Amino acid sequence: MTPPMRAEILTPTPRNLAIAAEAIRNGEVVGMPTETVYGLAGAALMPDALARIFSAKERPTFDPLIIHVGLAAKGTYALEHLQLIDGKALSDAARSRADALINAFWPGPLTLVLPKHEKVPELATSGLSTVALRMPAHRVAQWLIATAGVPLAAPSANRFGRISPTTAQAVADELGDRIDWILDGGSCEVGVESTVLRVETDGAVTMLRPGGLERSRIEEVIGCAVTVASSTSKPGAQEAPGMLESHYSPVKPLYLLPQPLSQLSAAEWSAVAGKVREGDATLGVLLRQCADTHDAERLIRTQLQSAGITASVVTILTLSRDGNAAEAARRLFSSLRELDNSPAQILFAEPSGGDQGLDFAIADRLGRAGRKLP
Ligand code: TXA
Ligand code: MG
Repeated sequence: MTPPMRAEILTPTPRNLAIAAEAIRNGEVVGMPTETVYGLAGAALMPDALARIFSAKERPTFDPLIIHVGLAAKGTYALEHLQLIDGKALSDAARSRADALINAFWPGPLTLVLPKHEKVPELATSGLSTVALRMPAHRVAQWLIATAGVPLAAPSANRFGRISPTTAQAVADELGDRIDWILDGGSCEVGVESTVLRVETDGAVTMLRPGGLERSRIEEVIGCAVTVASSTSKPGAQEAPGMLESHYSPVKPLYLLPQPLSQLSAAEWSAVAGKVREGDATLGVLLRQCADTHDAERLIRTQLQSAGITASVVTILTLSRDGNAAEAARRLFSSLRELDNSPAQILFAEPSGGDQGLDFAIADRLGRAGRKLP
């Protein structure tokens, strides 16, 4: 039985923002739109609020939160003044690198990991000596930060390990039985989470999570290469502690195709057929690029029929008809969610090409959402 819905979805009128801000000041948590994905926001410096965030999400406390700041926090001196970062622990090289990145990309989908101020609660940073900070570009997030008058800790507003929400309704579907208020800011523009960068003491930059800000744009600003941290599946041992290999997962089994549909080899089709036969299942398919899904459907039917399967393909979704990466990123999580809610019993996704631009983030999320087809 599904638990009763408690949350109310609020249009972001001044009155409703005041209600949400009041709840935040009282240590409650609120669903908040950002340009990347919806967050579950609470006052960043109130340990009770942080505890509520972790418990609503069922998130393990080894996975630290991102603190969202207002438009005035534009630079390392402002962040120091707000008692969010420790200026003494910041080398000159790291400070000027961080300021260059902030100047270029805030507000926007970039999170910076910097030495933490002692006033930042341990729970926000999972006991690390660093804190993750970002200035969201969504006006409703900025209104909420300004109205509440405090920085907001906000992880993505999904239950731990599940698909990140990109609409207010998706937040309600994830957490509606556990929170009271969700501010409706429409569909998220970017659609994947922020890029997380750690600025090292020597000013070098390590990418802990690919996201809505492309690596090439960061490299243009800093004039040198970004190091990409590798992830591991061992809890607690990652560079970015939240980067578990299994994450963003639909409820239904999701298999990642090694090639786009049209390029699958006979052996790869027989692996697909094997999975479908095993589950005696109806299919849902997520395409990276496709002008006409009828062609894809015909191809799937023909291939499965030659393996002796008359499975019904129920849902085929395309991230972008013409392959546009920004559109694909924007539609990624909502498409996974739609497939999960469709009658399809087994899901397949085409790979997203390579490590460039937003496709790097899309490939990262798909890689964690599903299992590779052997
Ligand atoms: O776009 C976003 O970043 C969204 C919206 C709501 O702002 N938020 C988001 O939060 O994605 P969350 O909690 O789902 O992901 C935060 C990521 C995790 O991978 C976490 O491990 C990493 O940031 N992180 C946080 N603090 C860190 C720290 N001190 N050092 C390294 N990684 C950190
Ligand atoms: Mg998340």
